[in-house]
Amino acid sequence: MPDLPTVCVIGAGSSGIAAAKALHERGIPFHCFEKSDQVGGNWVFGNRNGMSSAYRSLHINTSRERMEYSDFPMPKSYPDFPHHTHIAEYFNDYVDRFGVRDRIVFETGVEQARRDDDGVWTVTLDNGDTRSYDALAVANGHHWDPRWPEPAFPGEFNGKQMHAHYYVDNEDFRDKNVLVVGIGNSAMDIAVESSFVARNTFLSSRRGAYILPKYLFGRPLDQIGVNSLTGRLPWGFRQAILSTMYRVGVGKVQDYGLPEPDHKLGDAHPTISADFLNRIAHGEMTWKPNLTRLDGDRVVFEDGSSEEIDIIVYCTGYKVTFPFLDEDFVSAPDNDLPLFRRVFKPGVDNLAFIGLLQPLGAIMPLAEAQGRWLASYLRGEYRLPPLPEMEADIRAERDRMFRRYVASKRHTMQVDFDNYLYELGKELKAGAARARAVGFALPVAARARAGEAAPA
Ligand SMILES: Cc1cc2nc3c(=O)[nH]c(=O)nc-3n(C[C@H](O)[C@H](O)[C@H](O)COP(=O)(O)OP(=O)(O)OC[C@H]3O[C@@H](n4cnc5c(N)ncnc54)[C@H](O)[C@@H]3O)c2cc1C
Ligand SMILES: NC(=O)c1ccc[n+]([C@@H]2O[C@H](COP(=O)([O-])OP(=O)(O)OC[C@H]3O[C@@H](n4cnc5c(N)ncnc54)[C@H](OP(=O)(O)O)[C@@H]3O)[C@@H](O)[C@H]2O)c1
Repeated sequence: MPDLPTVCVIGAGSSGIAAAKALHERGIPFHCFEKSDQVGGNWVFGNRNGMSSAYRSLHINTSRERMEYSDFPMPKSYPDFPHHTHIAEYFNDYVDRFGVRDRIVFETGVEQARRDDDGVWTVTLDNGDTRSYDALAVANGHHWDPRWPEPAFPGEFNGKQMHAHYYVDNEDFRDKNVLVVGIGNSAMDIAVESSFVARNTFLSSRRGAYILPKYLFGRPLDQIGVNSLTGRLPWGFRQAILSTMYRVGVGKVQDYGLPEPDHKLGDAHPTISADFLNRIAHGEMTWKPNLTRLDGDRVVFEDGSSEEIDIIVYCTGYKVTFPFLDEDFVSAPDNDLPLFRRVFKPGVDNLAFIGLLQPLGAIMPLAEAQGRWLASYLRGEYRLPPLPEMEADIRAERDRMFRRYVASKRHTMQVDFDNYLYELGKELKAGAARARAVGFALPVAARARAGEAAPA
């Protein structure tokens, strides 16, 4: 076996550790650099990297069984929708269980990763060191760089404006008039918490949403059988089943005081909350259309109404950014970065993204599958399709996605969980045949300075 290429993994959140474990198991030399002093990224509340968007009360909204890695079940003692402390503990246990902790270089950020003319990556660390690697695996997360409203709402505001990324708990909301902007999952959790202590809570959104319960018919929503049939049932058929179940189990959101969604169920990233509709039904919060302007102590809405507001919480999503990459080489304007099956950038054979997708379901098992895919690729056991085929595949996938989903910066990398795994399984088989045809030649040669990555 020729020398295997060395890999730099950026980030030890749930995506980075899954990739690191796959490389470790397959004997591929690598370093995984992590800014923080611990693994888990977003799930470390108060993470010293300043990048976690977790708040004190955060629970997962994908169920335990959807989120767990395929070979490391979450403890049965965990509830169906565990707290962030459980999830952080789970990721910690994962790296210990698979012997990956020693392979992570903590408290070391990657400042710059530059692909040289010969393809080798020169990586500059925040301690001033420079290293060379044959391949780069980017797992820096995509829910840490707050996206404020663009453009900002016109007018002056006398109160406090904050983004969901900085929300910790509802203490500051006590007896205040709070306006939450957006109708994604951050908006759900924060509006509900606000409604228990604020004088008034308003939620403003520019469209309606189907608020999905965490349980339907006594089971976590994402554990209901119809999901696992994805690869075999067309989406339209599943959508009809899910819509019927929603009508029977929940009803119409209009009956709770929300606007009718301008799309079908499943054509937007799922907004999940067990409590939001109840709080509206209890009269503890009020829906408002989008803002038109800020006016001193008041906020004016599209229907011409205005409210006196003390605090605005913008739950307007996150930007996908890679501060360590040359923007001209790779960037995601408006969160859009076309990739082959959300991992490989056509034409760059030694760059992979892990966990850079928005599944209907959890990210972790998909990042795990991507890590394994990357390891097979680097060992020459899988070969990418020719460039035109990859580009055609990306085009087809994007056409499908943009046709289905509401036009929004939050819908640029949507995948159906089961469908993604099913299709990836087929692609792995096709890629294995291509690899066999070229005698399992390594697609990325080991050229970076030897001995720099930790031995496998
Ligand atoms: C409030 C909230 C709740 C969520 N709930 C769910 C859920 O229930 N289920 C679900 O599937 N997803 C959920 N998500 C999505 C979330 O993105 C994933 O859960 C998960 O955190 C993705 O893991 P990651 O490793 O890709 O990114 P992160 O968790 O963000 O980890 C990235 C890691 O990379 C490190 N890093 C970044 N840049 C550098 C650098 N330059 N050098 C070195 N290290 C670096 C960071 O320090 C961090 O540890 C939620 C997101 C938010 C904001
Ligand atoms: N409990 C949990 O597990 C939990 C909690 C929070 C977040 N999350 C996850 O974290 C990720 C981010 O969620 P998020 O809710 O923070 O962001 P998000 O899903 O991107 O939602 C952003 C919301 O803000 C709206 N918006 C954006 N720009 C706007 C503008 N200029 N004016 C008015 N509205 C605007 C969007 O509306 P449009 O649709 O019209 O663009 C959307 O409703 C998601 O994956 C989510 O599932 C999970």
